[in-house]
Amino acid sequence: MPLVQLTYASTVAEAVTVEDIKTIVAQASQKNESVNLTGFLCANLKFFMQCLEGERESVNRLYLKIAQDPRHDKVSLIKYNEIDKRVFGDWSMGVVTQVDSHKDLIKQYNHCESFDPYNIQSSDCIAFLHELSHIRKGGAR
Ligand SMILES: Cc1cc2nc3c(=O)[nH]c(=O)nc-3n(C[C@H](O)[C@H](O)[C@H](O)COP(=O)(O)O)c2cc1C
Repeated sequence: MPLVQLTYASTVAEAVTVEDIKTIVAQASQKNESVNLTGFLCANLKFFMQCLEGERESVNRLYLKIAQDPRHDKVSLIKYNEIDKRVFGDWSMGVVTQVDSHKDLIKQYNHCESFDPYNIQSSDCIAFLHELSHIRKGGAR
């Protein structure tokens, strides 16, 4: 079964808080581990961008489920491709909940002041999340 990587952008639903996002990720990590999915999510209180990696069937099934989740809307696919090796293999679901605090990275990849995944180049989205995952490993939020 081919290994794929899927990245999408979405808009956070109004009532959702940083605590809610942490809860989403805590539950997601457990579920992902059980189906061998890995990935990384970043958010501010406006937008999400998430990368999912795993077997094609598992990634597609989860994406369809996530797209129906009322905690966000305007779900928009940024990038979908087969991969030989996972980029986020160490993360059942890594997260940076307050991505706007990483101003330099946002300027570099997003060319603006605050994170907006609908404007990120599809060719840049993995590098952006990968850099965040390194920062996260160093302990920053
Ligand atoms: C932004 C966002 C990201 C999510 N990421 C995951 C994920 O990586 N894995 C997962 O199992 N559920 C994730 N969910 C939750 C799913 O949408 C869904 O609620 C969950 O899989 C439970 O589905 P079930 O009720 O069919 O068990 C995410 C939800 C949101 C809003």
